[in-house]
Amino acid sequence: MTGSLSRRDVIWNFSRVMGLAGAYAAMEALGFVGDAGAYSGPPAAPSSLGAGRRVVILGAGIAGLVSAWELKKAGYSVTVLEARNRPGGRVWTVRRDSILEHDHLPAQRCQFSPGHYFNAGAARIPAVHTGILSYCREFGVALEPHVNESGSSKFVSSSVRNGQPLPHRQVVNDIRGGVSELLAKAVGRGALDGEMTAEDKDRLLSFLNIYGALGNGGTYEGSNRSGYDLEPTILNAPSKVRAPIPLSELIGDPTIAFNLMFGQTMFQQATMMQPVGGMDTIPYAFAARMRRDIRYGVQVSHLTRSEEGVRVLFDQKDGTGGAIEADYCICTLPFSVLRHINTTLSAPVKAGIASFDYDAAGKVAWQSKRFWETDDHIYGGLSYVDTDSNLAWYPSQDFHAPEGVLVGTYNFVGQAETFAGMSLQDQFAASRASVEKIHPGKSVQLQRPVAVNWGRVPYTMGAWAHEAFGGPPVDHDTPEVRAVQAGDGPIVFAGQHLSPIGAWMEAAVRTAHNAVGQIHERTRAN
Ligand code: PHE
Repeated sequence: MTGSLSRRDVIWNFSRVMGLAGAYAAMEALGFVGDAGAYSGPPAAPSSLGAGRRVVILGAGIAGLVSAWELKKAGYSVTVLEARNRPGGRVWTVRRDSILEHDHLPAQRCQFSPGHYFNAGAARIPAVHTGILSYCREFGVALEPHVNESGSSKFVSSSVRNGQPLPHRQVVNDIRGGVSELLAKAVGRGALDGEMTAEDKDRLLSFLNIYGALGNGGTYEGSNRSGYDLEPTILNAPSKVRAPIPLSELIGDPTIAFNLMFGQTMFQQATMMQPVGGMDTIPYAFAARMRRDIRYGVQVSHLTRSEEGVRVLFDQKDGTGGAIEADYCICTLPFSVLRHINTTLSAPVKAGIASFDYDAAGKVAWQSKRFWETDDHIYGGLSYVDTDSNLAWYPSQDFHAPEGVLVGTYNFVGQAETFAGMSLQDQFAASRASVEKIHPGKSVQLQRPVAVNWGRVPYTMGAWAHEAFGGPPVDHDTPEVRAVQAGDGPIVFAGQHLSPIGAWMEAAVRTAHNAVGQIHERTRAN
């Protein structure tokens, strides 16, 4: 008996075979991934609504910062408790002398030359993420284009041309040409006569001629879309379009469709953006406006309900501790961290917190001469490679500077767990070997590496909540998750884990707005 696969089964199957990008593309194709939706801004409130009310906010990542900022505008007095000595959480820019700490690796001190940086966490903003972009506008955070796709970046697969690095433009356009040729042949043979009128067939053939760059006979013989073996120069000098790679060979790599379509998914499409100077410009813009409201180096140990509202106990780096009383609390800690903190939360809320799993992800970044620009004409974008390093990501800023920071590894889930199981030296060696596959002979130029394994970073312990994509999707429509969403009396929750938008700053913004709205409701009800 053939059972029909549920959407969930389909996504899980894709994710097993294709990894994260596959699962994400499948979710998107199935309409699972929400558009961020029309942006209506933070919940409206008179500036006096919160007068006399205190809110303690746990975590100074985007969710905590947005919550604090909007509550202040509505007249509340806020205190943000942050365990690290910086704002931003997973929005973190690593520069010279930044310290990278893990619970399983020796600390690293970044050795980049002054002026170089690496966005270890959030690194790109899509144009449709109106919430986070509206804060960039409000604070005057300068943005520049982030190149997410490049015709010159490479695709490397041992099953295609023996692992020879192929330009993205060739792979995309040869596949499009090959598929178009087959479809044109099927139409020409009458194989689709049952589906189409004669008129529609003619229209489709004309469409395919242009769409697939087909020759006169309806066959694909290559096109300059895929590049040249001999580049054109002056009139009457020889030039030669690159011969196409057969479709059967290109589709021999099971990940090719997903990697090629990655940049077409809703949140990866042009125009992507990045703040000039590093992603942490965004959290620092908030923090600069709330200097007296944020306390750093404060690690929460207990979150309890009290007669007045909430009581939070904390430890400080100097060994002292303290307590804060407030009317309300917005807890933005990742549930991977919150579940290890003592709380008096209700059993259903605790069960909800325990029901969220987190995915691993990791990056390795290098300072290097810009061989990708000088030798391969790659200006931004990503190359995909069939190693555990998964891809290489080129800087979108400072083109033609002598050096830049290359992300030689950005991996997810199983590949990231494999990396996290390796020593730093082995992670660096694997990253270098992966770059070598994409740029033969060039990886000797890679210097001063740093690695981040987000699954093992204290105060984060996971790149993002697992249910966002990849793996067997968790059912969010459960009493436990709904209990978390409703909050526990004066305690409410925010953070990317509570949004279907997934691993994006926008998710943190939207859930912060929701939490602020919940506080307003409680204030109005009292
Ligand atoms: N937002 C992150 C990124 O752009 C994580 C992510 C990866 C989200 C893949 C969706 C798909 O890399």
